[in-house]
Amino acid sequence: MSSPRPDVFIGIPKEELDTPALLIDLDMMETNIQKMADFFKTVNAELRPHVKTHKTPIIAHKQIEAGAIGVTCAKLGEAEPMIRAGIRDVLIANQIVGAQKIARLVNLAKHSEIMVAVDDPHNVDQISAAATAKGVTVRALIEVNTGMNRCGTEPGQPTLALARHILESEGIQFEGLMGYEGHTVITVNFIERKVSTEKSVDLLIDTKHLLEENGVPVKIMSGGGTGTYDITGAYPEMTEIQAGSYVFMDSTYQGVEGVGDQFGCSLRLLTTVVSHPQPTRVIVDAGLKVLAQEFGAPQPVGIEGLHTQGLSEEHGNMTADASVDVKPGDKIELLPTHCCTTVNLHDRYYGIRNGIVEAVWEIEARGKSQ
Ligand SMILES: Cc1ncc(COP(=O)(O)O)c(C=O)c1O
Repeated sequence: MSSPRPDVFIGIPKEELDTPALLIDLDMMETNIQKMADFFKTVNAELRPHVKTHKTPIIAHKQIEAGAIGVTCAKLGEAEPMIRAGIRDVLIANQIVGAQKIARLVNLAKHSEIMVAVDDPHNVDQISAAATAKGVTVRALIEVNTGMNRCGTEPGQPTLALARHILESEGIQFEGLMGYEGHTVITVNFIERKVSTEKSVDLLIDTKHLLEENGVPVKIMSGGGTGTYDITGAYPEMTEIQAGSYVFMDSTYQGVEGVGDQFGCSLRLLTTVVSHPQPTRVIVDAGLKVLAQEFGAPQPVGIEGLHTQGLSEEHGNMTADASVDVKPGDKIELLPTHCCTTVNLHDRYYGIRNGIVEAVWEIEARGKSQ
């Protein structure tokens, strides 16, 4: 049986939605988008938001309408729906490796200004060969390891060597450097976060200077996340910031100094109490299959004395104080602890304004991990 037409839900109170249902507080999300856009009016860098958070073209378009220059994606599977939806300036901030994926990449270059992260000369050669055969040019940023120890060339000479290699290659155009300081973005203390972020950004900037001293122009300098947008974004050398989570936020980012007080949590999971088997135990219909919990179990919003203890596949197991008055059938909202991985578990959002369902949006790139 096919799922119900999403538009049958428009106009009903959110409590009447069947559950589990992923809700967006539209006013809050729009405020977050505007606040971030306003920050980027005050600095040299521009915003290229990471859409791995929402995976949905209409939200990307709202970010662009507010001033973003394009989008950042994690995967081809995210870039493809964005480009189909008319977004042209797309960065895939990861390495695209292997013949099948490189074929998809060069085909996207026919329909967009696609840009990709590289950190390996053999990968550059393969992209170059495929792009030349297709008659396109793929734009490339060298990902530099500025301390996260994930992908990336080492700062300094190894990055210069790869930049020279790209410059000698056809079908691939060197645009600049990318250094994502993912190891600092959720450091709670602002000063600590600033010190470790600046250490990373300095490595990227030193590398930019080395390239320029050697006659290699560096047009784009990309990095940053929600926890560092105002630290990395304040450098005049940085041209693009990749913040993503700020659109929705979550309880983890809410606890990060200088971030939780700037942006509001606009994402909730609506659940139903399915059992109240003991006075101190409440069970809701939301478990691991609809909630990520790598940063801890999502907690209920607005009900004192009720706490999520743990999730199994389809159940959220809560302890309740004597004061908690809930019964099977009651609806409870949970605040995700990690917005990006929670969104990836859902087919659609219900956009809520003043308690009423205003929009239903398919999460087009959910699960598109290839
Ligand atoms: C390469 C890259 N850039 C930017 C971000 C965005 O970070 P945030 O969700 O903290 O805004 C991420 C998050 O994982 C990332 O991997």
